[in-house]
Amino acid sequence: MKLIEVKDYQEMSRVAADYLLSKVKKSNKITLGLATGGTPQGLYQELINDHQENKTSYQHVSSFNLDEYIGLSGNHPNSYCHYMKENLFNHIDIPLENTHIPSGKAADLDGECQAYDEKIHSEGGIDLQVLGIGSNGHIGFNEPGTSFDSPTHIVELTPSTREANARYFDSIEEVPSHAITMGIASILKSKEILLLASGHSKQDAMKKLVEGKISEDFPASVLNRHSNVTVIADEEALALLKNHKLLTR
Ligand code: PGA
Repeated sequence: MKLIEVKDYQEMSRVAADYLLSKVKKSNKITLGLATGGTPQGLYQELINDHQENKTSYQHVSSFNLDEYIGLSGNHPNSYCHYMKENLFNHIDIPLENTHIPSGKAADLDGECQAYDEKIHSEGGIDLQVLGIGSNGHIGFNEPGTSFDSPTHIVELTPSTREANARYFDSIEEVPSHAITMGIASILKSKEILLLASGHSKQDAMKKLVEGKISEDFPASVLNRHSNVTVIADEEALALLKNHKLLTR
């Protein structure tokens, strides 16, 4: 795991954007794995700014998002489908038909899970997966205890995740109880992973990710088994790490 320490959220977003843009510009066809939440918003804004200034094209890019709430339709303001359009897709030239987000309204949710993994496979897999990390170590919505072998599946969200996400809803009762998420096995199949973390609330998670043992109790720890992971995290998120060799910018 390569660990890059940056000063703050802005620098994390800029460095992540440079990283992703270098891949997008170099390839004729690239499949990105995308995340939602507060962490990648700055990255997406950097990509939008670059698209406006430098006209970087995304015509050859396709994407798969990590997760979606069960029960919210794609145009619900709190759905991740809506988030992606607002925060990225509507502001760059990626063909919308190239973008994939699991449907939280599918009549056959198990079928939707299986079809999602099959679609990723049929597109040749994910070249670069962007991840945030939950304070409990979740990646996507793979909560503690999730099997490392899990494909895309339905999860019940933990109270801590629902509390963390309540800030986007009018009340915690409105936060859906379940979600559909790419599984840990699905995420690990990505050729490359870029994990971003910023701020005080991620300190414990970063310490466990870098210094803890690999355990299903802390889902992100599985990334230590992947051969191509880059973590870009700010000073505050890394403040509890001891004696770790950090790459700085
Ligand atoms: P956040 O969420 O980016 O809003 O902190 C990260 C996550 O839950 O994976």
